[in-house]
Amino acid sequence: MIDILKIAKEFRIGGIPISYEHFGSGHINDSYCISMSPESSPDYLLQRINHHIFTDITLLTDNILKVTKYISEKIYSSEAGIPFAELHLIPACSSGFFYKDSEGNFWRMYNFIKGSRSFDLVPGPMLAYEGGKAFGLFLNLTSGMEAKSLEETLKNFHNIETRLEAFRKIRSEDPCGRVGETVAEISFIEDRADEMHTILRLGRSGRLPLRVTHNDTKFNNILFNSNNKAICIVDLDTVMPGYSLYDFGDAIRTGANTAAEDESELQKITIDLELFSSYSKGFLETAGDILTHDEKAHLAFSARFMTFIIGLRFLTDFLAGDTYYKIRFPGHNLQRARAQFRLLQSMEENTDSMKKIISDLCKLTF
Ligand SMILES: Nc1ncnc2c1ncn2[C@@H]1O[C@H](COP(=O)(O)OP(=O)(O)O)[C@@H](O)[C@H]1O
Ligand SMILES: [Mg+2]
Repeated sequence: MIDILKIAKEFRIGGIPISYEHFGSGHINDSYCISMSPESSPDYLLQRINHHIFTDITLLTDNILKVTKYISEKIYSSEAGIPFAELHLIPACSSGFFYKDSEGNFWRMYNFIKGSRSFDLVPGPMLAYEGGKAFGLFLNLTSGMEAKSLEETLKNFHNIETRLEAFRKIRSEDPCGRVGETVAEISFIEDRADEMHTILRLGRSGRLPLRVTHNDTKFNNILFNSNNKAICIVDLDTVMPGYSLYDFGDAIRTGANTAAEDESELQKITIDLELFSSYSKGFLETAGDILTHDEKAHLAFSARFMTFIIGLRFLTDFLAGDTYYKIRFPGHNLQRARAQFRLLQSMEENTDSMKKIISDLCKLTF
């Protein structure tokens, strides 16, 4: 049994930790809200870091320190009164900003943003708009930072070349004899493979700036206050150099789907244009000034791209024998891939509307 309160005392906290609660519905880290005595003390969020996914904890922590410091300075130095709560790591008593226990687990601690909450599903257009503003603000606040000052915590995370290479290798090896049942999905992928290099090509030719990007822009990584205003972006493990289009696209993939990511009844899956429009409006309000013409012109495409690459990864994992994503039943990864490809089809059917929404918001024609 892990003694959570004992681990909490390994950090430089104010007060005495008296109780804790398993917190959030995150799938990567284990999070605990630590309550302190006296009651006036701040609360903390203790997290066991998933070191199977993030193998270099020092590098990961350095990235988070750089980004949180930079954002905090921006928030405090700004006369615009940015209504964002400050997030920072708490130092460990020994040294640095994480603690390794006797069993080899890595732990870190953040200040707990009191009175905040997150939503697993987007509750509606107003909150989608707020969420778009928050992730746009994250890009804006970090836009002065040298992207390359951050390390790549997960190498080639959204690199379509390496993802397609891995897929084609597994497909030709077919270690579990599953290729036969995925013929339709395989041709769906190959039909779109060339177009899906667009962002990488634009980036390599210098037409997309490399930015500090979040890379996990799910809705539950936004904290809201009791008035449903977004006040903080959390889950900074995947913050690294990247393209803004990845952040925008993944937020739409996860947040503007009318069904679950692994929905089996494919007819339920469509792109929700109202949520897309609201998120885009918020995003462009806060990030519009820093985004280039090429970035804006590919926002609608980026949603298709992120849906494609995640579907590709689900299918690759299915063919490989379900070695990466946890599955709840046989064929889960295939179902997930099919759900992503159905969503992508819906986006393709609505491409003109999505492009028009973006160009109206940007007052530009693409
Ligand atoms: N500093 C914080 N203050 C309050 N709540 C937080 C804080 N950080 C994270 N949370 C909550 O805990 C959840 C899980 O944390 P997160 O860092 O996103 O872990 P995971 O990588 O497992 O998704 C978040 O979705 C959010 O609801
Ligand atoms: Mg999270």
